Amino acid sequence: MTPIRGYVFDAYGTLFDVHSVVEAGREITSDPATLSTTWRQKQLEYTWLRALMGAYADFWVITEAALRYAIRRLGLTATEPQLRRLMEAYLSLACFPEVKPALGRLAGRPRAVLSNGAPAMLAAAVAASGLTTFLEHVISVDRVKTYKPSPLVYALGPEALGVSAGELLFVSSNGWDVAGAKAFGYQVAWCNRSGAPAEELGARADLVIDALDKLPR
Ligand code: LAC
Repeated sequence: MTPIRGYVFDAYGTLFDVHSVVEAGREITSDPATLSTTWRQKQLEYTWLRALMGAYADFWVITEAALRYAIRRLGLTATEPQLRRLMEAYLSLACFPEVKPALGRLAGRPRAVLSNGAPAMLAAAVAASGLTTFLEHVISVDRVKTYKPSPLVYALGPEALGVSAGELLFVSSNGWDVAGAKAFGYQVAWCNRSGAPAEELGARADLVIDALDKLPR
């Protein structure tokens, strides 16, 4: 790998543990894991579909639409207050246990989040998880009004950090995000937390780790 002059992190599933979202689902189903998986998959689909449609709506709007769909798809019902509690779980996420020490070790070079999340969602999650002092930049796709894996989104990293993509390490737990960032030109580390197989998208990570404390300095 060529020398790294900065780090760009995906948010959900990479820094932030969405487990509390699963827990919130217990209120309306005995199988919150299935609700959470259906919700997450539909949330991503809606980002890709709206990007292709040229019909951007921010990630908060998309996340709620995906939740409403997932509830109907699984034959569940939820009151408006229950739905609001599920949504609010996104604003008070914890980070994975190794994240703070891992980011602390990387101090001295710029550390950024680059995420689909709407600005207010990211600000709330960064504050709730105690990551404010560990990040120099929090960048939302909202600046370009489209979604990953659009190159317009990945271009925000080098632009904000003033470092070329080839000298930045992009870090994501999402295999498709890894492929998008690699295709754009970043050096890429895949934090494969779930032991998933690599995506067949023609672009492989430079490095595969199972937790962020394995990142090279
Ligand atoms: C994000 C999603 C992809 O934070 O996890 O951008």
